[in-house]
Amino acid sequence: MRIIRVNSYEELSERAAGFISAQITLKPDCVLGLATGTTPKGTYENLISLYKKGLVDFSQVRTANLDEYAGLSPKDPHSYRYFMNTELFDHVNIDKEHTFLPDGLAEDLLEECRQYEAKIKSLEGIDLQLLGLGHNGHIGFNEPAKEFIKDTHVVSLTESTIKANSRLFEKPEDVPRKAVTMGIGTIMGAARLLLIVSGADKREALNLVLNGPICPECPASVLKLHTDLVVIADKEAYPEE
Ligand code: GLP
Repeated sequence: MRIIRVNSYEELSERAAGFISAQITLKPDCVLGLATGTTPKGTYENLISLYKKGLVDFSQVRTANLDEYAGLSPKDPHSYRYFMNTELFDHVNIDKEHTFLPDGLAEDLLEECRQYEAKIKSLEGIDLQLLGLGHNGHIGFNEPAKEFIKDTHVVSLTESTIKANSRLFEKPEDVPRKAVTMGIGTIMGAARLLLIVSGADKREALNLVLNGPICPECPASVLKLHTDLVVIADKEAYPEE
């Protein structure tokens, strides 16, 4: 594990975008595992500006996102598909046919999970997985649990996640109660992991991830077993070296 401590969210975003664009340069048809949430927004902004300067080319890149809310259509501004389109895909030369998220509207969500897992296998795995960190240590929508769930699965969101994510909805009741998420095995199967953590409100969660035991009650703690994990954290989230 390598921890890069930076001074600000802006620096975190620049560094993360630098990592991702280096990955694309090294392997133009790489598979990027992407994340939603507030934390990666700046990373995507930086990637767009690198693209506009001609410094990164998305034409052959494939992407697979961590998760999607159940029951939201891709046109719903709260859906993660909508987020990815508006925050990144609409602004770069990526072929949207090469961008994948679980289908939250699938009639049979269990079958959708199987198909999503198979899709990632058919892409021959993820080269670089970007991850944010939930306040309760969740990654994707892998919530604290009694055991790690390996593959893509349907999850019931915890009250704390519903509360945290309700800031992006009009009212907490509007937050979907279920989601489809890559499993811990899917995430750990990526060749390289990049965890980005920003802000004092994430300090406790990051401390638990880095210094606590590896256990499913803190899902992100498992990332320490990955042989190629880079954590970029700002000084609010990671006050000491
Ligand atoms: C959501 C997403 C996660 C994300 C987390 C933290 O629950 N499913 O992938 O990492 O929120 O989001 P934020 O970066 O907004 O704090």
